[in-house]
Amino acid sequence: MTGDSSNRLTLTPEQTAFFKENGYLVLRDVLDRNLCAQARDRMWASLPEGSHLKRDDPDTHYAPFPDHETSDDPLYIRRNERWHLREASTEQFLIDLIYCPDLCNVAEQLLGEGLLQPPVPDGEPMGSRGPAWPGGPTDPAIGDGVRGFYWTLPDRSKTANVDTAHTDGHPFNLGVIGVLNDVPEDGGAFTVWPGSHRRLYPTFQLQYDQPRIPYYDHMPSLKGIINPPEYDAELKAIKEDTQAVVCHGKEGDVVLWHHRLAHMAGNNNSDVIRQVVLNDFNRKDLDTCRLDPPQENMWHDWSGEVNDTAVSYSVEFARDQGITSKVD
Ligand SMILES: [Fe+2]
Repeated sequence: MTGDSSNRLTLTPEQTAFFKENGYLVLRDVLDRNLCAQARDRMWASLPEGSHLKRDDPDTHYAPFPDHETSDDPLYIRRNERWHLREASTEQFLIDLIYCPDLCNVAEQLLGEGLLQPPVPDGEPMGSRGPAWPGGPTDPAIGDGVRGFYWTLPDRSKTANVDTAHTDGHPFNLGVIGVLNDVPEDGGAFTVWPGSHRRLYPTFQLQYDQPRIPYYDHMPSLKGIINPPEYDAELKAIKEDTQAVVCHGKEGDVVLWHHRLAHMAGNNNSDVIRQVVLNDFNRKDLDTCRLDPPQENMWHDWSGEVNDTAVSYSVEFARDQGITSKVD
């Protein structure tokens, strides 16, 4: 990154320590409000004409999308409670929102100065081509910009409690969730299992990527990514012994998260649409190290500052990050 960075957002040692220990970090009031508003406008403008969803009528904001408005186009998904838009992923305003100087400064602080892969304005959005595996979901690794808008309609029955805890299967370094509206605690912004990145990282065969198995019509029982048995066992243990944290917040907040952190989009049992943007910050050398095995030092590819940071933060700080019980 070039230019004067002296006034840019910088993590404190306590914030870096918390990220290192827990694999996520909530930062308040980071995103530009005008760009957040522009992002919301862009999403609403993408609805088909005559949609049942009326921006000014909250009574219409509940799941599911009716059949005639359902879309499985990877660039524009509307199904049940999911409302995703990826066709705007490389538009300049969205790049300006997420690749803002403050977030880039923080990403460089964690991943190393001058090492970030830059986005390509007007490049190829994620979802333009290439499912993760035949018949599988869109591959988030293919795309020149932001992952896209991942909105979740509220569930009027408020009974949804689906467990979809997972780690992402594609290679990336640092995840970011940008919050575009005020999302209450039961609004499903982002659920994480603190510390799970340290326990899951060594269970993988590859440091950033995962082996994949082809799909055959006549042998349909297995396809897509392969999770080692050690991973499945550890994830099960984590869900049993670790209190999940439901990250939520206000317009402009962000959540940073480690690539091997167990997470899920939380259930939206509130009365407002969960409105977030997802992005991956990647290092330019991701391709040269994605197939390496997990390293003895799991922070091998992270900045010297991260490596040198001793894990120390206050109980109050942890509580502010949503941790009310001891982790691990
Ligand atoms: Fe995920």
